[in-house]
Amino acid sequence: MSKPLHHIGVVGAGAMGAGIAQVAAQAGCAVTVTDVSEAALAKGHAGVSAALQAAHTKGKLAAGEAQAILARISWSVALEDHAHAQLLIEAIVEEAEPKRALFLRLQDIAPHAVMASNTSSLSITALAQGLAAPKRFAGFHFFNPAPLMKLVEVVRGSATDPAVTACLLETAKAWGKHAVLVRDVPGFIVNRVARPFYSEGWRALEEGVASPEAIDAALRLGGGFRMGPLELGDLIGHDVNYAVACSIHAAYFGRTRFVPALGQARLIASGRLGRKTGAGVYGPDGAPPVSYPEKDGHEGVPVRLIMGDGRSAATHAADRQTPVFLKDWAQPTCPILIGAVSQPGHSALTGAPAKPVLLLQDRPGGLVLRTWLQLANAAADAVRDQVASPADIDAAMCFGLNYPMGPLAWAQAYGPEHAVAALNHIAAETGDSHYTPSETLQRAALTGAPLTGDPHA
Ligand SMILES: NC(=O)c1ccc[n+]([C@@H]2O[C@H](COP(=O)([O-])OP(=O)(O)OC[C@H]3O[C@@H](n4cnc5c(N)ncnc54)[C@H](O)[C@@H]3O)[C@@H](O)[C@H]2O)c1
Repeated sequence: MSKPLHHIGVVGAGAMGAGIAQVAAQAGCAVTVTDVSEAALAKGHAGVSAALQAAHTKGKLAAGEAQAILARISWSVALEDHAHAQLLIEAIVEEAEPKRALFLRLQDIAPHAVMASNTSSLSITALAQGLAAPKRFAGFHFFNPAPLMKLVEVVRGSATDPAVTACLLETAKAWGKHAVLVRDVPGFIVNRVARPFYSEGWRALEEGVASPEAIDAALRLGGGFRMGPLELGDLIGHDVNYAVACSIHAAYFGRTRFVPALGQARLIASGRLGRKTGAGVYGPDGAPPVSYPEKDGHEGVPVRLIMGDGRSAATHAADRQTPVFLKDWAQPTCPILIGAVSQPGHSALTGAPAKPVLLLQDRPGGLVLRTWLQLANAAADAVRDQVASPADIDAAMCFGLNYPMGPLAWAQAYGPEHAVAALNHIAAETGDSHYTPSETLQRAALTGAPLTGDPHA
């Protein structure tokens, strides 16, 4: 069974279904796409056709190849056309009942096919209830846009046969994807581990750490992320992003690390959902550029520059009996100096390279360091909960969200003992158990075992 499958059925011709069909056809598979809506089928066909034409125009597809790929996909309203499918991928509306009803019909039409759902948030184990062969049912979770995003999460429900997940992993690989094996937990890997990226951005905004554009710039330039959390929310749509946060928070029975952001809820209530409504945190053009220094860091009395370790600049200054500039964590190529001073009116000039200064409000853990620490904490919790292997958790964050590195690899490079100490400092100064270091991080700090290795080996 662990050979890639060739005859593919996709149900749902929307954004995901059409993209998945294109991916499979580009890999040489024969694909049948069905949908209840003729209009959706026409739109799906036109979208795939345009994407292939654009690839040809850019020289990425040889003449005739685009036509051949398109010819491998047939579009139909008749579910019975899936009778010869070896693999059926469902990509319809994100609701359990229509999906369950669909699988009951599909199992009669193609009784020997592997069936998979592209769901982002529903339980694979729950969707398999009532099926004649739940062992042949799994999650096959692509990312949007499917032809461009490299990640596929293959989700193992409680009844899924390991031979079926092995086969889906092989199939995704044959389609040019990076596939990871995931246990059936809410949010799988990516939508679970990414939560702190957004919530820390919102928390910083709520606490007045900096302006929205400075928060986004710090995470882009210092953190190495392609977009900051607030501008990314504008792009995704805050209603969509907040709904995922709420569903994950509820699914984990309110576990504090997943708490949604109040500021985002308020933004949604004001009708500012992001670019799709013309405005979100920003207007339609996204984050305006930040002018440096945001607050003039060069104007004040020069003070000692020290590296952030989770404590606030005020705490360091009190310990040392002298004012300090506390540098936030930043990737080596960061062109600016990000940090906070213990007292207003001081600057970072002493011992600092001549870089523009992005001055933040002083608080424990800063902004970039706190965000990376909480991502590492979330990834470490996922390791503890056996959501996936450490290597797959890191790969999922890189291939699913374009992170510059996996959160576990980041924590390994930072030093697990330093990460634990910094999180303990933040938890102590804020009094917030949200920041308590994960047991997985603590164990790595104590034993020296690599975080990125397999802790269950
Ligand atoms: N959009 C994303 O970013 C994204 C990413 C990953 C996974 N997903 C998941 O993929 C699935 C589809 O999402 P989408 O964004 O493509 O949705 P979409 O609304 O663009 O498309 C859904 C399509 O399913 C069709 N449909 C609805 N009920 C049907 C039925 N009973 N039988 C056949 N066709 C039916 C609709 O006509 C529509 O064309 C959802 O489960 C979603 O959670 C979405």
